[in-house]
Amino acid sequence: MSEDVQDQVAEEEEQREEQRPALDPEVAARRRAALAHVRQFPDPVLKTRALPVERFDDALREEVERMGILMEDALGIGLAATQVGNLQRLLVYRVEQDSPVNALINPVIEWTGKEQEILEEGCLSLPGVLVDVERPVYVRVHAQNEFGEPLTVEASGLEARVIQHEMDHLDGVLILERTSRDQRKRAMREMREAERERESA
Ligand code: NI
Repeated sequence: MSEDVQDQVAEEEEQREEQRPALDPEVAARRRAALAHVRQFPDPVLKTRALPVERFDDALREEVERMGILMEDALGIGLAATQVGNLQRLLVYRVEQDSPVNALINPVIEWTGKEQEILEEGCLSLPGVLVDVERPVYVRVHAQNEFGEPLTVEASGLEARVIQHEMDHLDGVLILERTSRDQRKRAMREMREAERERESA
């Protein structure tokens, strides 16, 4: 894609962004407060591999609860512990509005289906970035819950995608590394421009 076309695409995306209905001020304030606790690119912790959880104690359960609240307040559908600077193999997610928050500890992918799908993904650690990521549609994950009990999750579609996205975080992998070179370059440029705008504001 030429730079001109890229700029045009970026402009159209900006317009779409502006057309999105504004958040309720209280919701927006809660979201900003939550995002202040989420590490943002290029924080090196986001490139760090998390370590297995060995102690299933009250501190762990408090962390699960805290991360669930942060995720909800940030209007995210998933959050990995590395994103809050905690290098434990722990993630939370919730793909349906009114369902409880799920926690997966020490998750391991046991099986993935052959079918792959490309969909746009965002990330709380990469504000404003949306890139196409190809992932398996079906996964089976073995993990533990916050009490150390084994659990198996068979997921498809959005749930499978969120789990894989958050598991990537636990290995220090961001969606920038899962997308095409062109989209990565565009995302990096947009982040730099947003940064400059914030600095000059
Ligand atoms: Ni993410």
